Amino acid sequence: MKLGPKAFQKRLRRAGAGPKLDPPPARAYLTGMAIRRILTIDSAPDLGLLKRVSQPVDGVDESVRALMDDMLETMYAAPGIGLAAVQIGDLRRIVVMDLGDGPPSEGNRPEGAEAPAGGEEPRIPNPRVFVNPEVLWASDETFCYEEGCLSIPDYFDQVERPARVRIAYLDREGRRVEEEIEGLYAVCYQHELDHLNGVLFIDHLSRLRRDRAMAKVKKTMRLREDA
Ligand code: NI
Repeated sequence: MKLGPKAFQKRLRRAGAGPKLDPPPARAYLTGMAIRRILTIDSAPDLGLLKRVSQPVDGVDESVRALMDDMLETMYAAPGIGLAAVQIGDLRRIVVMDLGDGPPSEGNRPEGAEAPAGGEEPRIPNPRVFVNPEVLWASDETFCYEEGCLSIPDYFDQVERPARVRIAYLDREGRRVEEEIEGLYAVCYQHELDHLNGVLFIDHLSRLRRDRAMAKVKKTMRLREDA
């Protein structure tokens, strides 16, 4: 997932107005990673893959962790806040995310960011990984958020989803985790889980808006190729 322009600007201000919106996390454990190509919906073969349903992972082994590391590197470089494995062409049920909501301790503050003066905390890297993510329960109450997607460049639109969800997944060590989440975390989780089921955020929109999104993405990608 990618933040919309308004949320992006707000986050820049929170981060201390530096140009580095997504400071990379401590890299000690992230070695030998590769930035992979992100599939986009303007390409028919890419779209075909993005519409496929991803397969459950048997367990978290070194190959799964290597894929997670590539996904995080690719997501930070984009930059985005969430990425599903299918978006780099791997049909395993794996998601990575970083909402910049890491623990606010001294020494873990983004470089150049001031201590908050009674305001919001600056964003602090917090890479999360999810294997075989599920939604166990969803609230009737809904929440509207302007979503974007790295596979749908430069298009943002409001999507309505359950405001709170109870989720289950395997973590980086293969341990089962259950938690109840809300806010941007819940939005991003549901957006990424959709990817594993071949669903894009524009599939939640009207036909008219979906067609408009596709036209805009095709134009954006043509302009990028010409540049
Ligand atoms: Ni997406």
